[in-house]
Amino acid sequence: MNAEDETEAATGSTQERARSRLALALDVASAGEATALARRLRPHFSVVKVGLELFVAEGPDVVRALTGEGFDVFLDLKLHDIPNTVGRAAARAGGLGVRYLTVHLAGGEQMVRAAVEGFASASPGAPGSGILGVTVLTSEPEAGDEVLAERARLAASAGCVGAVCASADLPVVRPAATRLVLVVPGIRMEGSDRGDQARSATPGSALASGADLLVIGRTVTAAADPEAAAALVSASLLGGSWQQH
Ligand code: C5P
Repeated sequence: MNAEDETEAATGSTQERARSRLALALDVASAGEATALARRLRPHFSVVKVGLELFVAEGPDVVRALTGEGFDVFLDLKLHDIPNTVGRAAARAGGLGVRYLTVHLAGGEQMVRAAVEGFASASPGAPGSGILGVTVLTSEPEAGDEVLAERARLAASAGCVGAVCASADLPVVRPAATRLVLVVPGIRMEGSDRGDQARSATPGSALASGADLLVIGRTVTAAADPEAAAALVSASLLGGSWQQH
């Protein structure tokens, strides 16, 4: 390999590492738009997130379409109900072959365990797939560090594969859930409009604070040129200290 090829190979693998840390929020109302967006931005995102809007509009078919195209699907339904109901819904999600399903940790230990068991009972068992526990919502400002740490410990003890938290909460959540995949939404580029995200962070700062997977939504999807915006997000990660973790 000559020096130029080596540089290209190194950049390629660094981009691949950035890609492995980025999830694209498909917050659109139709399967057509969702799959088109996912395909266009595939070079930059390893995971695609199907949230309430898309799932309510299109149901499990859109999940099947995305998994059928080889995407790792993060089904963000933030379930919170009695344990039996959540366990059964989680089993259906596991059966769809999604990588992640979210449930609220505020639902308590029995409910979270039911979700973990339900998902595992039906999942094809892809390594690293399972339940993500949502720690606190931004709209729950009264939840202090103690509640946050307690929920992170619950995610770990109940068998979740990961937890969702704000970047600012990583210093509390990480020590309480050392082995979990920590997923962080609310990502904005430096100097951009934060929109309705009260507790935003840049991609580089969230990874440097210990995030494993960043959820990127309007930063890319609302941009005039989504490919260029996604390329900027990945480029902002190149050379960051997070690559040593
Ligand atoms: O604001 P943005 O478009 O980047 O949001 C991307 C995704 O992150 C949305 O699908 C939203 O549900 C999720 N999310 C969030 N803020 C939180 C928790 C989740 O924006 N505090």
